[in-house]
Amino acid sequence: MSLSIVVHKNKKELAFAVANTFLQKAIDAANDQRNFYVALSGGSTPKALFKQLADAQVANAIPWANVHFFWGDERCVPPDHPESNFGMTQTELLNFIDMPAENIHRIRGEAPPAFEARRYAAHLRRILPVNVHRKPVFDWLFLGMGNDGHTASLFPGTDFWRLRNKICAVAEHPLSGQKRISLTLPVINAARSVTFLVTGTAKAQILADIINKTGHYRKYPAAKVQPLSGNITWQIDAAAAQLSGK
Ligand code: 6PG
Repeated sequence: MSLSIVVHKNKKELAFAVANTFLQKAIDAANDQRNFYVALSGGSTPKALFKQLADAQVANAIPWANVHFFWGDERCVPPDHPESNFGMTQTELLNFIDMPAENIHRIRGEAPPAFEARRYAAHLRRILPVNVHRKPVFDWLFLGMGNDGHTASLFPGTDFWRLRNKICAVAEHPLSGQKRISLTLPVINAARSVTFLVTGTAKAQILADIINKTGHYRKYPAAKVQPLSGNITWQIDAAAAQLSGK
């Protein structure tokens, strides 16, 4: 597994570069007459990317009819709640692009968590190709990383790694107790391509530990993301990279 690490001067340059890669991959998929199945991450980091993708010059060049959006995790709140990952994506991106409604596969945060975890898992199995382990395969899966090394809603100190046979799981934020629906690690690692978007000084030490396999890196869920495809890229800004020696 060769980690590809791309360091950008700042968040805006990172977003511009990733948006252009997204544009190219979406066009390639449309030219091959195949859908482009993308799992988006939540939190605040993706906002800069969504802003770039919503920019008319880029948005008008992307064949949205071939692009399908899913989410790597969702807070168990209604879609119009300020903490909804879908709600943030709608505000920052979906309201500005011409994507068919049927291409938007949101996790229903307002539904009973255990029921929704089962529903979303069945939905993913219905829409996406599956690998030899019967796990749905995304073309591109975005992830963020929390200041504690969590990713999606897989938190350190929980037994997330035991969920080998599940596609989606109900998780709980360790501090707020907020329920979440999250893809499991086997689904994340089934993706054809995984990209972490990590910015800011607050994540620099954990990122350095993960990249350099130092400190307590083994306890961080983000360190467990090792896609079977071997295709993983860390898109980071200089602030997050400052302790990594990259
Ligand atoms: C979520 C996430 C989570 C997020 C990280 C980073 O629902 O919160 O998907 O894994 O990506 O916590 O969040 P920030 O981008 O806000 O730092």
